[in-house]
Amino acid sequence: MDTMNDKLTIALTKGRILQETLPLLARAGIASLEDISTSRKLVFATNRPDVQLVVLRGTDVPTYVRYGAADMGIVGKDILLEQGADGLYEPLDLGIARCRLMTAARVGWKSNGARIRVATKFVNITRDYFAQQGIHADLIKLYGALELAPIMHLADVIVDIVDTGNTLRANGMEPLEQIAAISSRLVVNKAAMRSRYAAITRIIADLTAAVGESANATP
Ligand code: PRP
Repeated sequence: MDTMNDKLTIALTKGRILQETLPLLARAGIASLEDISTSRKLVFATNRPDVQLVVLRGTDVPTYVRYGAADMGIVGKDILLEQGADGLYEPLDLGIARCRLMTAARVGWKSNGARIRVATKFVNITRDYFAQQGIHADLIKLYGALELAPIMHLADVIVDIVDTGNTLRANGMEPLEQIAAISSRLVVNKAAMRSRYAAITRIIADLTAAVGESANATP
């Protein structure tokens, strides 16, 4: 397997974001030589001999890019807000995988003014948010299925990604406050931006044009 590090490496987020990322990359002139969505491989050669793709969990994308193991990455703003963006440039909002980071609770739930228990994957964002509101929140870190926490009386409130709202509705919950509007962002390793300036700025320009095409195509 050729993972030579003279290739420019772009780290992609697997899952829902990937389905919107691949067409955008294709419009920017970068296409995997094999079908990423059906392969178990993690490293993919592309039609451009100087560019390879790796596919990761979103939470790991900033780490790969921060350490320079990948030169660039595509990752949700939620993860960047949660982890901080040290060592990264964030030159482009790709406008894909748009959703909202929200508080939510069981339908009709009202705070009684006392401290509340909040379940989330996003503990840093959540701590800052409730501190700004002057609300004392006890945080409970979970890794998934957050909507179960209020049902099982583990927490009063959750902080989670809301897209269609179907998951909340299906579990007797309702959105309350929006904390942040989320979309996927292009991130670039700061050192790579200097050492591989020409290649990286070309990809940023191609992706910027591809994002513009998508925006114009939206009715
Ligand atoms: C996210 C989020 C919600 C759901 C919201 O989970 O945690 O559960 O999507 O989408 P909706 O508003 O359209 O119902 P995801 O499916 O990404 O899985 P995850 O729990 O692994 O993050």
